[in-house]
Amino acid sequence: MTITDNRSGQSVQVPIVDGGVDASEWRKLLPGVWFYDPALMTTASTPSAITDLDGENGILRYRGYPIEQLAEHSTYLEVAYLLIHGELPTAQQYEPWVHEITYHTFIHENVRKRFLEGFHHDAHPMGMLVSAIAALSTFYPEANNISDPDNRYKQIVRLIAKMPTLAAACHRNSVGMPFVYPDNSLNFTENFLAMLWKVAEPRYAANPTLARALDVLFILHADHEQNCGTTAMRTVGSAHADPYVSTASAAAALYGPRHGGANEAVIHMLTQIGSVDRVPQFIEDVKAGRGRLQGFGHRVYKSYDPRAAIIKKTADDVFAITGKNPLLDIALAIEEVALSDDYFISRKLYPNVDFYSGLIYQAMGFPTEMFTVLFAIPRTAGWLAHWVELLEQDQKIVRPRQIYTGVGARDYVAMDGRT
Ligand code: SDX
Repeated sequence: MTITDNRSGQSVQVPIVDGGVDASEWRKLLPGVWFYDPALMTTASTPSAITDLDGENGILRYRGYPIEQLAEHSTYLEVAYLLIHGELPTAQQYEPWVHEITYHTFIHENVRKRFLEGFHHDAHPMGMLVSAIAALSTFYPEANNISDPDNRYKQIVRLIAKMPTLAAACHRNSVGMPFVYPDNSLNFTENFLAMLWKVAEPRYAANPTLARALDVLFILHADHEQNCGTTAMRTVGSAHADPYVSTASAAAALYGPRHGGANEAVIHMLTQIGSVDRVPQFIEDVKAGRGRLQGFGHRVYKSYDPRAAIIKKTADDVFAITGKNPLLDIALAIEEVALSDDYFISRKLYPNVDFYSGLIYQAMGFPTEMFTVLFAIPRTAGWLAHWVELLEQDQKIVRPRQIYTGVGARDYVAMDGRT
């Protein structure tokens, strides 16, 4: 591609490589002239080999493996290994991986007793989780040594392993129940369910169908290339902050209702609609600009989010155990109306990963406030895979420029001289 500055007649040849053009060529021709790209809608911020999305065709692959195959055949911990290491593990690699994660699920007593229990009874679990992840940074000061691969790996294992424990502790604190210690005889997802739901019984045995359904949901949420939360991870990580505070920044971004907070917003929306016969009016309100259809739309997917299709199928397995979530009929009615209405078709708005996931979580007994926490647990593997990738790429600190639109230079005016 040739870029020509009409003012000087100067040109520069810029190759299109892997679907992108290198902005440094632009800088040579036009120093001090910036690409204005708010929300980075047209900007590739990094090369990455982790996740590949094809938004037009609704394709999602982790390290080349289609999400549909991983959801059917894999487990969350195997997918976490794949994202972090780049390959599916052999049995000889998987066993020690699972063992290390299993034996790092405990959190320091002070994190629970002094920190988490210090929150108000009605503290939102995501606010607690974001804080607790950052607090872990103070318990592992060696995590600052981000240039040491072995040290990085130790923190990666700790974070993946401790997220369910922190999440369960936040929930138990919110409902006034005693903290449940990890049970190392259980697998990752069964242990999480036990830490959430155990009451007086000696050991909590998770329903295997529900445990598998949750593990599939964890697989689906594990990574999604340069989404808002992962961009936060890479930005904070580029400053060489430790992985705990970097992960906390990613979780903070995920908490936003435009991002991972949408699964909670979907349930509030469906509950507010209340019945199928009120769906047409709701759709008209959205089209009139009075509110958004939560769980619909996506910056990348301009066709069906492949994860939404898998979640819809998983819902059938869950509802067979828990009973159908009454809000499902409202969700199905919304999808049917929206997919045939030009307002949504013209804007390429389809159900995304958050549209159906909350229905499953609610049917499984999770409070709505826990839904984004359930997103953060598995996305930790993706965030950390991107963190390692950016460090191995030896990327520079993220520091974009701006288009200054403020006032020009002016002199200070003493207080009594101001109008
Ligand atoms: C996630 O990036 C990722 O990969 C994220 C994620 C991941 O795995 O990490 O996939 C997870 O965050 C999924 C998205 C969850 N969020 C929601 O469901 C919230 C509702 N959706 C929207 O707010 C919105 O669709 C976004 C935020 C998801 C995407 O917004 P964009 O790309 O900035 O699109 P836009 O706001 O510019 O909308 C384009 C048009 C606008 O209409 P016009 O101004 O052209 O008239 O579509 C409209 C918008 O008003 N629109 C919607 C809509 N989403 C966009 N109208 C009604 N309901 C919606 N949900």
